[in-house]
Amino acid sequence: MKKIVIVSNRLPLKVEKNEQSIVFSPTSGGLATGLKSVHESGNALWIGWPGVPKEELEAAQLDEVKASLGDMNFKPVHLDQEQVEDFYLGLSNKSIWPLFHYFKQNVVFDDNQWEAYKQVNEQFAQAVVEEVQPGDTVWVHDYQLLLVPDLIRQKIQDVTIGFFLHIPFPSFEIFRIFPKRQEVLRGLMGADLIGFHTYDYQRHFVSSVKRILHLEVNFNTINDRGREVIVNTFPMGIDTEKFEAVSKEHDEKHPSDFSEMRKQFTSHRAQSNGKLILSIDRLDYTKGILNRIEAFELFLKRYPAYHEKIRLVMVIVPSRSEVSHYKALKKKTDESIGRVNGMYSTVNWTPIWYYYRSFDFDDLIDLYKGCEVAMVTPLRDGMNLVAKEFLATKLDSKGVLILSELAGASKELHHALLVNPFDTFALSEAIHEAVEMSEEEQIERNRPMRERIRRYDVHEWSKRFMEELNRIADRAPEEHTVRIRTKQKEQLIQAFKASKERLLLLDYDGTLTGFHVNHQKAIPSAEVLSILQKLSEDPATHIAVISGRPPDFLEKHFGHLPIDLIAEHGHLTRLKGGAEWKEKNMSSDEWIAHVLPVMQQFADNTPGTFVEVKKNALVWHYRKTDPELGIIKSEELKTTLRSMVSNEVHLMNGDKIIEVVSSSVNKGTASIERYNSSSYDFVLAAGDDVTDEDMFTYLPSSSVSIKVGAKATAAQYRVSDYNAMIDFLGELARAL
Ligand code: UDP
Ligand code: G6P
Repeated sequence: MKKIVIVSNRLPLKVEKNEQSIVFSPTSGGLATGLKSVHESGNALWIGWPGVPKEELEAAQLDEVKASLGDMNFKPVHLDQEQVEDFYLGLSNKSIWPLFHYFKQNVVFDDNQWEAYKQVNEQFAQAVVEEVQPGDTVWVHDYQLLLVPDLIRQKIQDVTIGFFLHIPFPSFEIFRIFPKRQEVLRGLMGADLIGFHTYDYQRHFVSSVKRILHLEVNFNTINDRGREVIVNTFPMGIDTEKFEAVSKEHDEKHPSDFSEMRKQFTSHRAQSNGKLILSIDRLDYTKGILNRIEAFELFLKRYPAYHEKIRLVMVIVPSRSEVSHYKALKKKTDESIGRVNGMYSTVNWTPIWYYYRSFDFDDLIDLYKGCEVAMVTPLRDGMNLVAKEFLATKLDSKGVLILSELAGASKELHHALLVNPFDTFALSEAIHEAVEMSEEEQIERNRPMRERIRRYDVHEWSKRFMEELNRIADRAPEEHTVRIRTKQKEQLIQAFKASKERLLLLDYDGTLTGFHVNHQKAIPSAEVLSILQKLSEDPATHIAVISGRPPDFLEKHFGHLPIDLIAEHGHLTRLKGGAEWKEKNMSSDEWIAHVLPVMQQFADNTPGTFVEVKKNALVWHYRKTDPELGIIKSEELKTTLRSMVSNEVHLMNGDKIIEVVSSSVNKGTASIERYNSSSYDFVLAAGDDVTDEDMFTYLPSSSVSIKVGAKATAAQYRVSDYNAMIDFLGELARAL
């Protein structure tokens, strides 16, 4: 049976040592509470950190933790004290967390911590690899493990990898500040599917991928050197049924079974005929705790009639308390609450009831049910599940949710009282509106939100993510193209060896090398050169590098090899052993005089683009400009050029280029010429771009045609990217 492996830094359980033995206690936070139901619902193993440094456990206790967690389908990844410091408290929570939540002023970046981050991500990837079989599915979670998808992919190919980010993905202008931005994006690109809570986060991510990795994006598909990575939005839900069921149980309880909390709430209401406002968060500067207290204080100042009637119940769950910004926030929170209570308390009334601890599920339900208003006003929050949980327990649809427009949940819960959490006055006004709101209006607002929460719960969330992941895993290759795997490789190598005279026609960019922002820097590696050298030393093997590049580039990098060089898509040829470039006779090159000024004008108006003038072609390059601007301008240029050029030239859309070439010659005509020059009984053509399609269609069908990458093609075979192509050529060379 196919297995799902869930991977997250935090498990829903943490180890606690009491005097003699090990105990497990539940952890807080949206990720842990949300994924619990996914874990419980199938053949799933959950890999994560059990929450204490390794040194705190003796060898026997480590074994005990492993065994006990194993019984519950968890697998621990242990971190030592230094890793906890540098990876967890350090890079994860002093760099990535504040940056992704737009708290640039709290970001600390340290190279040692980055090394620890890489090391721990490697440790997690290794723990996954030990568990998975080909065909299994891995679902990696959150900002602590951004490098894990690619690290797994490097070790094992045949698994489907999903990644979900539980926090916001910031805009490109924020993300670009991160010193290891490229490594982070590369890490994520190992996944097949990347999920976000909101479309905004998805949009920001895609924008960074375009601008930093210079990859092509088509709607929600990123083309990473031939591999496709899908990005999509999956707003996380809660276990609504469970919240509703327990809420119902509480309604049916006899007063003698009420919890202390519920008794306290009931007596407050009896005494004051007032209302309770709830606030629940981990102690985190992203949650807007101080702004909320300030707004409550302003509300009390502006509306004295509510004194002794309204109470703010603040539950603050300790979190990451070793990090200085969290420590400082704790101090400020205590001071602010002290200030308000000191200022406004009376003999019968304390305005803020403050709890600095976490509560179990039953108490949480009492809190949600017992309070009329919930203030969920983070300054930035990936989703915020508390908002949804509050609504879910309100079986009669009464209650008011004040919700920050900067929480991901606001995209779904737009019937709430939406506020800008930085606007203290607006917040205090929202409190007033909430406590005054009629029951009819409360019900009218909450009904559609409750419906949404019920329909799109955590099960639906994970189901949709997994369905999309499975769809990707089962994605059928195009009918006529066959991916070159072990079996096909063996057959092709056999045919290659058995033949008497062989011709290999190889495109250059994207086939023998990757792309580079500066196209002059996309040069052949030593490995490629040595493979070509080895192949060409065989007298029966004839090689032609056939490229859109100008002659001087090909000569500079391949001139020393005994191979044919074909430049500018077939317009110029330098045959093996010769020193002369032979040029095709052009019917006319008058068009150049018309086209060049237009292209030049586009280059002038679009910073980062330039025109390359070849002997028989003009190329406008837009790889280095803003990717969105590049697309718009390339469309505009194509439209302009189409109205100018006639049949004698060809307009081509290459990889981040628009090229105009004479139409009488192309890679197809050039490869046929090579093919006819001898009696080859094995012909192989490989290329990644549209211009290479001419080779595939012009050559006889007995030839082996290989598309490099994922684009549509007429070729018979496909390999994922240029690395796979080079590997294959290496195997041919070794087979000789
Ligand atoms: N929570 C809890 N015990 C508490 C307080 C909160 O288990 O005492 C849970 C709460 O029910 C919610 C989660 O912690 O499921 C908080 O998730 P949220 O998305 O609101 O914020 P995060 O902590 O993930 O930033
Ligand atoms: C947020 C993060 C989670 C994290 C949780 C609790 O929900 O998205 O990844 O587990 O906060 O934080 P902690 O640092 O205690 O794991």
